Amino acid sequence: MIPADPAFETPLTRTFDLRLPLVAGGLMWLSDADYVAAGARAGVLSFLTAASFPEPAALRAQIRRCRDLAGGHAFGVNVSMLPKLVPGEKTADVFRLIADEGVTVVETSGRNPEEYLPVLKDAGITVIHKVPSLRFAQKAQAIGVDMVAIVGAECGGHPGMDLVGTMVNVGLAERRLTIPFLLGGGIGAGSQIVAALAGGAAGVVIGTRLLGADEIAAHDDYKAALVAAGERDTALTMGSVRNTIRTLKNQTTAIVTALEAETPDIGIEALLPHVAGTIGRRAYETGDTSHGMLSAGQALGLLERTAPLADIIAQLEQEALAALARLRPQARISRQEAAQ
Ligand SMILES: Cc1cc2nc3c(=O)[nH]c(=O)nc-3n(C[C@H](O)[C@H](O)[C@H](O)COP(=O)(O)O)c2cc1C
Repeated sequence: MIPADPAFETPLTRTFDLRLPLVAGGLMWLSDADYVAAGARAGVLSFLTAASFPEPAALRAQIRRCRDLAGGHAFGVNVSMLPKLVPGEKTADVFRLIADEGVTVVETSGRNPEEYLPVLKDAGITVIHKVPSLRFAQKAQAIGVDMVAIVGAECGGHPGMDLVGTMVNVGLAERRLTIPFLLGGGIGAGSQIVAALAGGAAGVVIGTRLLGADEIAAHDDYKAALVAAGERDTALTMGSVRNTIRTLKNQTTAIVTALEAETPDIGIEALLPHVAGTIGRRAYETGDTSHGMLSAGQALGLLERTAPLADIIAQLEQEALAALARLRPQARISRQEAAQ
């Protein structure tokens, strides 16, 4: 695939033959074969989410369907290793299945993937490890992952405990990393992609901005709620159990916020009846967003309408090209000034 502009050519686009240096991150319950294949066809790297398909046969079927639909373009599988999502002993089996099926890239997250790296490397699989802050990115670099993705405090899902913003990560990553890195958290406009590239990133990872894609198999009312929501409509909860999560503000986040304020050492057992993943899954099916932990980040402010995924990607590309055009005359002027 030809990159939309030479400025967009990076180790990420070269490795996976992409049009834009953009990763559509794994989305629990939502990034299925149809969504991921649509991303692949649009020229970005997208990830199925293994934890959404706990039955091996279902994950295998998704991978095969995705391959059929992806038109020969690359796609990957996200393996979130949060203990609650994929019990430890099953994680190795998931990686073996992925390798068996000939998948070429995984997005790992949740905890250190070191023990699985030999299996993945033997299978020739590229490992992009996603972390919530620079210190974990440095650790991932030290254990030998191929690329890291650093998601800032603005992100939908799990921003970790440090809560450093993406703009700070832009500046830090280039100083501290030697392997290719991606930046994410709050990215939903093409200009932000250019900012990340200017900071030395090989690309960006996006979740929230893409939730309005037609290919996301969720109820229209859920998507309408996201379109109506803005950048101030997320809540950060679960810090008391060191599993901070940014989700759409709703009755559940109000209850959890109150419970955590009343009893700071409340513990996960008391929170589970409110935060269990099955409640969120139901909201995707019914469109009733009043309950459930519905991961969404501050980029909700940039999600203004639903559209086919290819159109969202095309819009991001146009915005990125416009941002580059804004910079280039300035670059020319400053070169002329320097020469004088
Ligand atoms: C609805 C939703 C579900 C997500 N599920 C997962 C997941 O299962 N595993 C994972 O590693 N990241 C998950 N993420 C994080 C995204 O892959 C991505 O890193 C993040 O959304 C980037 O930040 P942004 O939301 O500001 O674009 C999820 C994000 C959202 C919004």
